[in-house]
Amino acid sequence: MDITLNVNGRPERFSAPPNELLVERLRDGLGLTGTKVGCDTGQCGSCVVRLDGRSVKSCLVLTASAAGAEVATIEGVTTRGGELSGLQEALRQEHGTQCGFCTPGMVMALGELVDATADGPAPTEPEIREWLTGNLCRCTGYHSVVRGVQRACAAGRAEVPAGTAASTAAAPEV
Ligand code: FES
Ligand code: FES
Repeated sequence: MDITLNVNGRPERFSAPPNELLVERLRDGLGLTGTKVGCDTGQCGSCVVRLDGRSVKSCLVLTASAAGAEVATIEGVTTRGGELSGLQEALRQEHGTQCGFCTPGMVMALGELVDATADGPAPTEPEIREWLTGNLCRCTGYHSVVRGVQRACAAGRAEVPAGTAASTAAAPEV
């Protein structure tokens, strides 16, 4: 199948088998290995990317079903001017990452929450923990991740690199 995706702002055209998974296309086809595969069965959340703004587990999405969509991966977050996004910086400050395997999926998933609440009340701790239920971490115990989200929200940061916030309000990346 001939498919077009817009990945991190770049159009990508390729031919893919109908049963190809989006995570396979991103990692093996496009070399975007920041998206991790922990379980391949939709349980761990390490493969989360944003698809038209919504966080999805890319091991559960067929590439063909994403045709024409805007896909944002962790590479699209970290390459803007080389700066960390507001959430990444907050997670760093709160020691919300250790081995780092789960972190790209966490950033992509939690970024949707930070974005969604940017113009309203900050999410409560129970709301953050509820949002986190799809992302497993073997290292942090989650407390530091929750604090990182709270810090990002308290700082009033949209989920974009700090130095580019004003110019990227409409960008799909977190
Ligand atoms: S690799 Fe997709 S949810 Fe675990
Ligand atoms: S930091 Fe190691 S799995 Fe989350």
